[in-house]
This record gives sequence, structure tokens and C-alpha cells, in this order.
Amino acid sequence: MPPKPPLVITVDGPAASGKGTLARTLAAELGLPHLDTGRIYRGVGVALLAAGQDPSDPAAAEAAALALDPAALGDPALASEAAARAASVVAAMPRVRAALLAFQRRFAAGPRGAVLDGRDTGTVICPEAKVKLFLTATAEERARRRHDELRGRGEASIYADVLVEIIARDRRDRTRAVAPLEPASDAVVIDTTRLDAAAVFEAALVVLRARGLYPAGPRGSPVA
Ligand code: C5P
Repeated sequence: MPPKPPLVITVDGPAASGKGTLARTLAAELGLPHLDTGRIYRGVGVALLAAGQDPSDPAAAEAAALALDPAALGDPALASEAAARAASVVAAMPRVRAALLAFQRRFAAGPRGAVLDGRDTGTVICPEAKVKLFLTATAEERARRRHDELRGRGEASIYADVLVEIIARDRRDRTRAVAPLEPASDAVVIDTTRLDAAAVFEAALVVLRARGLYPAGPRGSPVA
């Protein structure tokens, strides 16, 4: 059998839209490597916080981005809300984004392709991706999911505070001058407000099937 051509799938969307879960599930189903690009920005934010530096200092943030060790991306500290906030501050800085671009492109250029999720993976990182998905959901539903997730981890969480934080982060991500959060013109938008993870996965498979990248009928091995 000839080797399969590489397949790159991008999954973008705002916080708690379900993109991470979908990207992980698609990668496992298709046997592709997965990169959660949000962890890269979180990694930069956490490195600054750990060093007692200010995430809003562009020179310190660029230096942290250039020094980022991919091995640090598994650090559980990256899951905190403080990490998310610092990530969205450094992510608005053009030199930070530029410093992190090559690593993301190299990952996507692997022999099998990849599934990437984030904010700009379909617009900036992989504009040539074969499949681009963009997930949305209301801010209230996304805040509810994040609130449940934090409580599930045993962290104190107040829904109203989570909602305010999500809205502030959306605003920073959508209005920044460089790589703002927006669907690529050729992305398929999936509103996940009323969908559970299994239904979102099914919606993504509909897109793959329509492009001949996944067999029709019950789940089986992909044809891509
Ligand atoms: O997806 P996650 O919540 O981990 O992302 C944290 C922050 O990193 C986002 O709010 C966003 O500011 C930034 N980010 C980005 N571009 C990406 C991924 C994440 O700007 N591709």
C-alpha cells in the first residue's frame, strides 16, 4: 500500500468551546499527532509568573517564548486560570507569536500530518490545512463548562467570576491586532452550545466524510 498523504486538521475557537476535546478525539481516531497550541502560550505565561516577571512586559515575554522548552508543556500548572490569563496577555504580542510560529509549523509538517487546536491554527499556522473546523458556543455555556471543570478538579470556583474571565479573554483574543481569534474563510463552523462531546465528534466526522477522508457508515479506519 502506498503511504497515506499527510492530513492536517485545524480546530480553532474560544476558551471552553470544546476544541481541545475534539482535537484529541480526532487525533486518536485518525492516528495523527496532536498539538494543543494553547499550552505553548500558557507555557510562556507560566515561565514568566514562575520567574516573578510581568507577563505584560514584551521584552521579558519574547525572551520567555524564545527560551520555551517543549518538555515543559506537560506541566500541570498550565491548566490554571492564572496561566490562561497570562497566556492571553503574551499571545497579543507580535514578537511572542513570531517566536512560537516555527515550532508549530514544524509540528504540522510531520510525515503523517497533525491535528492542531488553538485560535489561529487555520488562519496563520496552517493556512493550507485540508480540514479547518471552528467551534463556537455562548459565553454562558462555556463559562458553565469551565466552572464544572474547575470544581471537578477540586478548585474553588464562582460561576460569575468564570464568566467575567471568559468574556475578558474572548475580548483580548478577538480584538488583538495580530492573529485575532476568527474563523478562516474556508473553516466549517460548529456551534457546540447544545452538543455534547460525542455529538461534536460526529459533526466533525460528517465534514471528513464529505471530503472522502473518513469512511461512510459506522466508525472504521479512515481512508485518508
Ligand atoms: O486554548 P487555551 O485556553 O489553552 O489558550 C490560552 C490562551 O492562549 C488563549 O486565550 C489565547 O490568548 C492564546 N492562544 C493564542 N493562539 C493559539 C492558542 C492559544 O493566542 N493558537
